[in-house]
Amino acid sequence: MKALTWQGKRSIEYGDVPDPRIEQPTDAIVKVTSTGICGSDLHLYEVMGPFLDAGDVLGHEVIGIVEETGPEVGGLQPGDRVVVPFQIACGSCFMCTQGLQTQCETTQVRSQGMGAALFGYTKLYGQVPGGQAEYLRVPQAQYGPIKVPQGPPDDRFVYLSDVLPTAWQAVEYAGIPPEGTVVVLGLGPIGDMACRIAQHRGHRVIGVDLVPERLERVRGYGVQTRTYSRHLADAIRDLTDERGPDSVIDAVGMEAHGSPVARVAQQAAGLLPDAIQRKFMQKAGVDRMAALLTAIDIVRRGGTISLVGVYGGMADPMPMLQIFDKQIQLRMGQANVRRWSSQILPLLTDEDPLHVDSFATHHLPLSDGPAAYESFQQKNDGMVKVLLNP
Ligand SMILES: NC(=O)c1ccc[n+]([C@@H]2O[C@H](COP(=O)([O-])OP(=O)(O)OC[C@H]3O[C@@H](n4cnc5c(N)ncnc54)[C@H](O)[C@@H]3O)[C@@H](O)[C@H]2O)c1
Ligand SMILES: [Zn+2]
Ligand SMILES: [Zn+2]
Repeated sequence: MKALTWQGKRSIEYGDVPDPRIEQPTDAIVKVTSTGICGSDLHLYEVMGPFLDAGDVLGHEVIGIVEETGPEVGGLQPGDRVVVPFQIACGSCFMCTQGLQTQCETTQVRSQGMGAALFGYTKLYGQVPGGQAEYLRVPQAQYGPIKVPQGPPDDRFVYLSDVLPTAWQAVEYAGIPPEGTVVVLGLGPIGDMACRIAQHRGHRVIGVDLVPERLERVRGYGVQTRTYSRHLADAIRDLTDERGPDSVIDAVGMEAHGSPVARVAQQAAGLLPDAIQRKFMQKAGVDRMAALLTAIDIVRRGGTISLVGVYGGMADPMPMLQIFDKQIQLRMGQANVRRWSSQILPLLTDEDPLHVDSFATHHLPLSDGPAAYESFQQKNDGMVKVLLNP
């Protein structure tokens, strides 16, 4: 089959890989009809190289049609339309039963000391072939795939795989009080969707980014915006009675702009041999912390920071004095997709309150994947969200 594979830093290839097949009785094979590129894929593209092998199939945002099921996949039939959550979870272990599917004890990647396996997301997360491909092998298919109705376009449901539950969890974890204000840092797909969800719930939302089209896009549905700069904290305090917002969502992560020193550290790490680089990245502080430090600075005393952008280093210095003194609450993690999906599904109607039908800025054939990665990273061509069609 055809798939997008990682070949090296900023190098993606469209080419042939072996067809996936049923390996476990709980596997299903899904024929992919649409698949997204995520901001998380950009970390693989740029800085996570030491944890990938050339030829790894990328992608973790999939909607498609069940092609084949193993003998222990109850409840799914060939022909069913499904969305595949980005994490692989069993649904019945201690963690899954309390809604912590990203910590699933059946699929945890213990050899790496990590949580649940993820599709297309490095050796740290099990090196499971991903979904930017014609077909996807779905382990734990007795639980994972979410059945969705036939009829509406793929765009209506595909974001259940990642963007929607991630943004939803970001808003939940932000603990915004009823009349409260939330600042969303980063207006990529995740931050944009978090703005929509927070606004849908009636909160006051202020969005921050550096890309004019992304700021414009959220202003289009009534969100206040500020451009990221060194003076951002003052600008936000001006908007929030000098006190700061009740909550801040960091939807940026470890490649934030505005961290020149860490940027050099990330680049220097990239020059080391893979094995040393892996150790370096796991032991050292390699994250660019600009967004998180901004969040700590601007959130009001006693407020909450919800960290949804991905961070990765071990020794990143944190301003503990400030966090402790301001009594900041900090919540974070990969989104537990199935924990939220049943609450989100009722919003995916023809009324489309979150405007998912027009969320994607680009629809391209899978063969254009390499160019799409480049545009998405460079933020060229107004690209905010791209869906690829195999
Ligand atoms: N927790 C999860 O389960 C989960 C799931 C999906 C994505 N993510 C993470 O969420 C983050 C956002 O993903 P995305 O798909 O929206 O990607 P993205 O890369 O398109 O979005 C990041 C945005 O942040 C902006 N930005 C950069 N530096 C900034 C700064 N200092 N202040 C404000 N904005 C800044 C960029 O211009 C960009 O628009 C990524 O780190 C991604 O890995 C996490
Ligand atoms: Zn993702
Ligand atoms: Zn489990």
